[in-house]
Amino acid sequence: MFALPDLPYDHAALEPVISRATMHLHHEKHHQTYLDTVNRLLSEAARSPASLEDVVREAAGDTASKILFNNAAQAWNHSFFWAAMSPRGPAPSGALAAAIDRDFGSLTSLKARFVDDGAAHFGSGWIWLAAEGGAVKVMSTHDGDDLLTHSGLTPLLACDLWEHAYYLDHKNDRKAYLSAWFDALPNWTLARQQYDAAQGEGEAWLHPAPIAQNQGTAARTAR
Ligand code: FE2
Repeated sequence: MFALPDLPYDHAALEPVISRATMHLHHEKHHQTYLDTVNRLLSEAARSPASLEDVVREAAGDTASKILFNNAAQAWNHSFFWAAMSPRGPAPSGALAAAIDRDFGSLTSLKARFVDDGAAHFGSGWIWLAAEGGAVKVMSTHDGDDLLTHSGLTPLLACDLWEHAYYLDHKNDRKAYLSAWFDALPNWTLARQQYDAAQGEGEAWLHPAPIAQNQGTAARTAR
């Protein structure tokens, strides 16, 4: 089974962009529910996959596994989303910074593209910064879809466009949420590691591995 990953910071650490209240609901309710559904479906199918990446890829494109895909991809996306934020972190650096300047002209231009594309995305989904080989791209995916099912792409950053991510704090103003998010919260250290991994240097981020059933029960009891 897959356990809910701990946040790498305090629930209030992302304020004022994302409030403590939003983080509690988002992490312990929304994210937990996706994981609960994944774990229930895997248990009913007597499956013990080696990784959440395997679950997402195997369920993708299989109509009979649509519910499993949606929940597994959403679980993966949320775990990556928590990792892809870092309050008061450093600016982009290294080869990633150079690639951003080459492909977008400046970090300011990249922000404009990220915010505009995220604001224009119709309905629920995710806005990503991704590497395709050495190129840096902004792209969005619908609902629970992620980049695991898009060959050749490595996610660098992800921002949740579902209303549950921003409605308490920004109401209907998704653009204000995205602008504030981009200014304060991207984990550029992770993004650089991901970019380097896309160039064959180091390992890309992986979702925490599944744990034994009895460990999961103990973790829930402790929390
Ligand atoms: Fe979410």
